[in-house]
Order: sequence, then C-alpha cells, then structure tokens
Amino acid sequence: MSAVRAVAHANIALVKYWGKRDAALMLPSASSVSLTLDAFYTTTSVGLHEGDADEVSLDGAPLTGGALVKVERFLDLVRSQAAPGVAGRRARVASRNDVPTAAGLASSASAFAALAGAAAGAYGVALDRAGLSRLARRGSGSASRSVYGGFVQWRAAAELPPAEADLASVAEPLPSSPDLDVAMAVVVLAAGPKAIGSREAMAHTVATSPYFPAWAEHTERDAAAACEAIAAGDLERLGEITETSAMRMHATMLAAAPPVRYLAPASLEVLDAVAALRAAGTGAWATMDAGPNVKVLCAASDLEAVVAALADGGRRTVLRARPGPGLRVERE
Ligand code: DP6
Repeated sequence: MSAVRAVAHANIALVKYWGKRDAALMLPSASSVSLTLDAFYTTTSVGLHEGDADEVSLDGAPLTGGALVKVERFLDLVRSQAAPGVAGRRARVASRNDVPTAAGLASSASAFAALAGAAAGAYGVALDRAGLSRLARRGSGSASRSVYGGFVQWRAAAELPPAEADLASVAEPLPSSPDLDVAMAVVVLAAGPKAIGSREAMAHTVATSPYFPAWAEHTERDAAAACEAIAAGDLERLGEITETSAMRMHATMLAAAPPVRYLAPASLEVLDAVAALRAAGTGAWATMDAGPNVKVLCAASDLEAVVAALADGGRRTVLRARPGPGLRVERE
C-alpha cells in the first residue's frame, strides 16, 4: 500500500479545554470552542514497512523516548481497527511542523490530527470526519478540533456515560455568520524555565484545584454562549467570552496545589496592552494556553493596528494568523 500524507492546521481554543473526566478515553470535563489557524500546520506522511518497529521522525530527526511511545500507542489504536492483513505491519512516519522557528507554537493538536488522517489512510481504516475527530482525540484532546477548519466545537457529551460519550465526544464545524471576519495576532514571548506539560498539568488541576468543578460547569455554559455569538456574528461577545475563559482556566490552575503558573511577567504586560487597545476603541481580546505566549482575537480589518500596537516598535515578535482549513488527506 502506498504512503498517505495528511496536513492539519493548529487551532487555538476560545473556550478552553482543561480537564478530563476519563483519561483513558480522553473525554473532556466540558465542551470547548476553537478557531483553526492558517499560519501553523503539520504535514505527516505514513507508510507501512516490513521491519519490526515503528520508525518516527519529526522535522528530520528520529523521535525517541516518551514522544515516540505516545505515537506508537496511537498507531496501535489504529492497527486495532485495521484488517488482519495489515494490522501486524509497522509504520514509517515522517512529520514536519510548519511553524515559525523557535516560536514555541508546535502543537499536539495539528500533530495528532495529521497523524490520525495519515495513519487511518495508510492502514486502510475507513473513517468519516467524525470518526477522524474521535481518533485524533485519543492522541491529544485538542487534536479532535483540528479535523475541521474555521470555528469548531468539541462536544464533551458529559451527560452520557463514558462508553457512549466515547462515540459522541467529537468536534463539529460551527456555522458562523458571514459578518464574522476574524484574525489572530500571536505574541511570541521568550519561554522561561520549561513549565510542566499540559497533560500532566491538567490532571494535577483536576485532582487538586478546589475551583475545578466551578470551572467545568461555567465552561459548558461558555461554550454554548460562544456558539451563539459565532452564529450571530457578534465578535464583541465572542471576544469577551474568549478572554474570560482563558483567565478562568489560568485561575483554576493557579489554585492547584502546588500551583501551575504559565503566566509570565511579559504575558501580563501584553494583557495590559490588549486592555489598552480596547480602552482606545479597538476590539481585541487575549487568550493564553500552556505557555507564556498571548494570542489576540480581533476583526481581520483591525489586524494590522493590533499587530503594530503589540509589537511596540519591534520590541515584541507578533505573528499574523487567519482562519485556516480542516484536515486534508491524500495518497502519495
Ligand atoms: C491549554 O490537547 O494538549 O491548549 O488532551 O492531554 O493531549 P491532551 O491535552 P492538550 O491540551 C490543550 C490545552 C489547551 C487548551 C485547549 O486547547 O483547549
């Protein structure tokens, strides 16, 4: 069978996913809403070979250690759904991240969405978009959303027992008003000492933050409100929900014991600059993930003004992004 190549774009959550209710099935505690971006993406090719081990490379270098184990387990999951003739074969995986050098934006979302598409294709596992989203979720929760372009919701299906939610907890593209023409400015800040990774930090927050139940409850409501704002083309409302969700997520992890803190002094300066933009009449709203970088949602027509204000005369690196496409899969 020939190799299969897939391209998946990174996404940034507007309503954040932070916490699992089932770590084995990768079921989230609450629904989340994201925007897939054009500027950052992963291209992954998967072919089958006769050797007795999976071979995985990222940006030309062999993957080793825990990162390799994660990919092997994911391939095992794909193989468990493959026809007997190919299920025993090992894979050769070559992955490339197209993100600006050293921007610290390499994303497990684009990585596992691309791997899901390429591996399912290479092993002849026929999956529709929902099936690919479900598969990608098992690699990394946020990857379920990168199967689709533009605005996306990943449903928690928290009302269902885990075995049923396993089928229902997938992403879906969100109908958005044509008036909603958005962009994102990504402020790249120097990472300090390596903070704890998001998977571990999330589990630690669930286990020790007394704020976690309130976070999960409010996030479910925020996701519904964000979907409404997207359908109505209400950027101001969407922006407010976006910034509030990010601050609540960081507040919840700051309340863990010991605390998890990704907010750096330089991040707070950018949050102030975003507030100043708003005070001066420009719609701009900040969000942050498991690192110091700040991503700023705005109208496409305001992007250059937002970038100029946040770059502060060249003192900061600011990247431009617009809504990007969903997963593409092709035979090589
Ligand atoms: C802060 O999807 O990387 O970016 O499911 O454990 O692989 P795992 O976690 P991951 O977490 C993303 C967390 C976040 C918020 C978000 O993307 O919703």
